[in-house]
Amino acid sequence: MRIVLGVGGGIAAFKVASLLRLFTEAGHQVTVVPTEAALNFVGQATWEALSGRPVSTSVFDHVDQVNHVRLGQEADLVVVAPATANILARAAHGLADDLLGNTLLVATCPVLFAPAMHTEMWRHAATQANVATLRSHGAHVLDPDVGRLTGKDSGPGRLPEPQAIFAAALALVEDPARAVHHAERPLAGRHVLVSAGGTQEPLDPVRFLGNRSSGKQGIALAAAARDAGAQVTLVAAHIEVPVPAGVELVRVGTAEELRQAMIEHSPAADAVLMAAAVADFRPAERSGTKIKKRAEGTDPVIELVRNPDILAELVRLRHADARQQLILGFAAETGDDSGSVLEYARQKLEKKGCDLLVVNHVGEDKVFGQDVNSVEILSRSDREMQHVEGSKNAVARAVVERVAAELAD
Ligand code: CTP
Repeated sequence: MRIVLGVGGGIAAFKVASLLRLFTEAGHQVTVVPTEAALNFVGQATWEALSGRPVSTSVFDHVDQVNHVRLGQEADLVVVAPATANILARAAHGLADDLLGNTLLVATCPVLFAPAMHTEMWRHAATQANVATLRSHGAHVLDPDVGRLTGKDSGPGRLPEPQAIFAAALALVEDPARAVHHAERPLAGRHVLVSAGGTQEPLDPVRFLGNRSSGKQGIALAAAARDAGAQVTLVAAHIEVPVPAGVELVRVGTAEELRQAMIEHSPAADAVLMAAAVADFRPAERSGTKIKKRAEGTDPVIELVRNPDILAELVRLRHADARQQLILGFAAETGDDSGSVLEYARQKLEKKGCDLLVVNHVGEDKVFGQDVNSVEILSRSDREMQHVEGSKNAVARAVVERVAAELAD
C-alpha cells in the first residue's frame, strides 16, 4: 500500500518515527511529508533514512514530477501525526500553502488524523469545530490520549501510541466497520489497569506453587482496552502469550508483588480489570536454599497460609479514597452439590464488592489455555446477566464495551 505520512510541527513528531517503522516493516511504501515546522523536531535526514524515500515540504521541490498532485492521487492512505491544532485548522479550511496541505486536498483515499497538542488547545472551540468539519468531510480524527504532555501538565492531548495509530490506520483501509470502532475509541482518555496471568509462590529457589492460567484472557483484555483508546497498564504474573504492543508493562511473580503493583497503579485508573489468577495460598515458609531429599519418613510437609484478597482490598481502597472507579473481577467456578456456578458467582460479587464480575465455567479441559471462552457478565447495578461466547479476543471486546458503557453512565 502507498501511504503518505504527514508530520506536524509538535514534539510528538519523534514518536512518529516508530509509526513509520511499523508501516515500513509491514511492507508498505511510505512517503513522509513533514511541515516546515516539523523539521524543527525531527530532521529531513531521519525521515529519508527511515522511509528510504526523498522527503520535501514544499510544492516547489521536484516540480517536474508535479509532486503536489501525484502524491495525493497515488496514495491509498494518508495519515497525519502529530496533527497539531494548526494542521487541523488548515486542513479543515482547505489551505494549501505547503506540500502536505496540497496532498490533503488532492487525496480521495481514507485520511486519518492523530492529534497531539496541549489540553487547552484541544478543548478550544476553534479546534473542536475544525475536528467536526474534518469528520463531516469524511476524514477520521482520533481522539488524543490522556496523560503526560510536554511540560509538567497532563490531560487530553497526548499523541495516541504509534501501535494504536497503526492499528486504526490499517483498519480504516482493510475493514471500515472496525475503523468506526477505532475512530469512536470508547475508552479514549481513560486509564485502564489490567492484571493477567497466574501468580507463582516459591517454595525454594527452584520450586513454586502455580496454577494453570495462561494469561490469554487478561492479555486479550489489555489489547482490547488499548484498541478502544485507553491508556493501559498491564500487571502481568506468569503468562504464556506475548505482551501486546502499546501497553505499559509491570512484571510480577507472587501474589504479594501483584498486590503491591495494583495498589501502586490503581489510584490513576478509571477502571481496574482483575483477570489474574491469584494464588489463594502461599507456602508459610520459603526456603532460601533448595529443599533436599532426606532420610525416609522425613519428607517435608508444606504448610500454607492465606494470601490477601487483592480484589476486595482494591474495592476497600476505592471507598476509602472516594474514588470514581469501576472494578471488575473474574470468577472461575465449577459448581457443586451445594450451589450452581451462578449462585456461587452472585455470592462472590456481593462478597468482593466489585461492580462487574465475569464468570467462567471451569472444568479440567475448559478455559485454561484454550482460545475460546463462554462467560456471563454479572453486574451489581442490574439483575440481568450478559452471556458472551467466542474467542478470548471476542470476549475481551465485549467486556471492554461493557466497561466503556458503565463508565459512560
Ligand atoms: N482474586 C484476588 N486475590 C486473591 C484471589 C482472587 O484479587 N487472593 C481475584 C481474582 O483476580 C478474580 C477474583 O478475585 O478477579 C475471583 O477469584 P476466585 O479465585 O474465583 O475467587 P476466590 O476469592 O478465590 O473464591 P473461592 O476460593 O471461594 O472460589
